[in-house]
Amino acid sequence: MGEVRMKFAVIGSLGWAGIRHVEALTQLGHEIVAVVDPGEGCAAQAAEIGAVAVPSLDELDLSSIEAATLALPPSLHPAATRKLAKAGIHVLCEKPMAPDSKEAQELVDFAKTVDVTIMPGYLLRTNPHIRGFVEGLKKLGPLRRLHISTNVRKPSMAGWRSEPVIGGALLVNAIHQLDLATWFIGERLTPRMAQLDNAHHEAPTEDLFYTALVSPSGVTASVLSSWSPHPPISNDGLMVTDAGRLRIEAESDTGNIVLMQEGYRLNGEDVVLDDIHGAPEKMVGVNQFVREFEHFVDAIENRTPLWVTVEDNFAVQKLIEDCRAAAIAPAGRTAARR
Ligand SMILES: NC(=O)c1ccc[n+]([C@@H]2O[C@H](COP(=O)([O-])OP(=O)(O)OC[C@H]3O[C@@H](n4cnc5c(N)ncnc54)[C@H](O)[C@@H]3O)[C@@H](O)[C@H]2O)c1
Repeated sequence: MGEVRMKFAVIGSLGWAGIRHVEALTQLGHEIVAVVDPGEGCAAQAAEIGAVAVPSLDELDLSSIEAATLALPPSLHPAATRKLAKAGIHVLCEKPMAPDSKEAQELVDFAKTVDVTIMPGYLLRTNPHIRGFVEGLKKLGPLRRLHISTNVRKPSMAGWRSEPVIGGALLVNAIHQLDLATWFIGERLTPRMAQLDNAHHEAPTEDLFYTALVSPSGVTASVLSSWSPHPPISNDGLMVTDAGRLRIEAESDTGNIVLMQEGYRLNGEDVVLDDIHGAPEKMVGVNQFVREFEHFVDAIENRTPLWVTVEDNFAVQKLIEDCRAAAIAPAGRTAARR
């Protein structure tokens, strides 16, 4: 792991995620053969890393690469995934893999027909800090209640992250929390209620998403995702972007756990992950994209089972739609401010 050098293309290489893909692959020593993006700056980006600049996937020489990462507007992900996979290329596709759950399900069916690794980019699943937290969670016994929140600093709401269909606090941030909740509980979750509102910003999409979920065996989960100019800062949880803090708390009938900056607090006792005897490598503060790509390459090379799958992507895209359907104030969101 980490020693295999693969030939990659990064598609959507000039975007927020694409730039991080380029950085992480470079750090891991993989060869980026091509960067694919129609944006200005692609040639300069390519020159810096010794890659070729390609304006579109249609013009990419598929025989020159073994694997590709996709970081595009989600509506473009399914066709690109298919084209690459059919050419025998392994694909890491950013979340969400599709514009809706119907296309997400079609990708699940498609993935069964090809012999390449297709992995969605829910990078918290591969984050060693979160994976360490899951080990603590298991010590609690059957989970009864879980709460996951993100508070992201947004002085304003501009750009595509605020656009209907592709933006908003639910799709941009809560998607990761809904995925974590489903993973931690290990059961399908159903919303009792959901809220998409604008607490701070007048914008076409919500700056606040909240849902109360239940599982078939009666586990309760709540998820809050908030965008605001001055988010509250707490000492627990961890920064998942430079402007966003993730907090997780959970309880069983016999104990509780809180995610902490250095590990977790289990029944009031701090467990510092990097100090765990025999911890193989640094778990806290790692570059999440580096760990995500390490796992992706490990799955390709060694057939290690994927920690996150196209089925998981479908589950979360379906849950997003269920939450939208359950929303108590689905449209005219600014009404809540008046
Ligand atoms: N894993 C995460 O935490 C995370 C974080 C941010 C974004 N994302 C996901 O990554 C994807 C991209 O988001 P972003 O924030 O980087 O968006 P972005 O708008 O910053 O970047 C998208 C890039 O794609 C390029 N592009 C558009 N059409 C293209 C095409 N046909 N061929 C090649 N390039 C094309 C654009 O020029 C742009 O550079 C989304 O699915 C998003 O949800 C994931």
